[in-house]
Amino acid sequence: MTLKLRKLSYALGAEVCDVDVGKPMSEQAFGEIYRAFLDHGILLFRGQDVTREQHIEFSRRFGELDRHDSLPRDRRKDHPELLMVTNEPKPDGSPSDTKYTGRQWHSDMSFTTVPSMGSLLRRYAVPEVGGDTLFANMYMAYDALSDGMKKLIANLHGIHLSGTRKLANDGGGVERQEEQKRINPPVAQPVVRVHPETGRKALYIGEKVKRFEGMTEAESRPLIAWLVAHATKPEFVYRHQWRRNDIVAWDNRCTMHQALSDFDETQLRHMERTTVLGTPSGYVVT
Ligand code: SIN
Repeated sequence: MTLKLRKLSYALGAEVCDVDVGKPMSEQAFGEIYRAFLDHGILLFRGQDVTREQHIEFSRRFGELDRHDSLPRDRRKDHPELLMVTNEPKPDGSPSDTKYTGRQWHSDMSFTTVPSMGSLLRRYAVPEVGGDTLFANMYMAYDALSDGMKKLIANLHGIHLSGTRKLANDGGGVERQEEQKRINPPVAQPVVRVHPETGRKALYIGEKVKRFEGMTEAESRPLIAWLVAHATKPEFVYRHQWRRNDIVAWDNRCTMHQALSDFDETQLRHMERTTVLGTPSGYVVT
């Protein structure tokens, strides 16, 4: 098979054309997809009318799947490999626990010592307009830094916290925030990560980073804000507008992403994500 690819933006991403991820796929065919995944950082598969089981099976080709023990409220009870990102209220009318999942720049599971290598998000419902997702190329962000800044951050570790800040700010998620702190203590991750497969350096920062190891929040804040603003400049970013039956796969080791609040919250936005386990990185900070 020769894979047909269409670039999605200058910065990153490619659409994989004419592939049905629900169909059996040879090792060679998947090998081409995996190569494209490493080369482009994110892959878009359009028109994938697959079952939940097929979504999970295809995701397993990328590696072992997380059963989301560190986010127990957010996974589907019937399929723990699927993490829900939905604003659909609970049966008792209270807000969904995952209403604001992903609304900050982040790389999945960076707040654990086994951060995800990749994720595959399937769209079930999006509002009439908006509900888009932004992706940033963290290789490009790193490469564009001055030598002085590269030297400054070379040995820094960022302390990543789990939790959904926006939900807590709304007053609806205090209990969940407390639970998250118990299950997921703060984790220090290198600010510059070497991708284990490509060997390239990427920035590993985001809005879950509270401070740098050995520094106060006040000291760390300006540099964290600068690095996030730098990494998310339009020239490093692709904005995905979801269509029915899209599946987007991304490499968490060299990209970060953010679900936008660019829509009418009274309309349903429902996505489901598989999370592929990565290699150990970072350490718990006590
Ligand atoms: C996520 O952060 O995994 C979810 C992104 C999205 O819902 O667009």
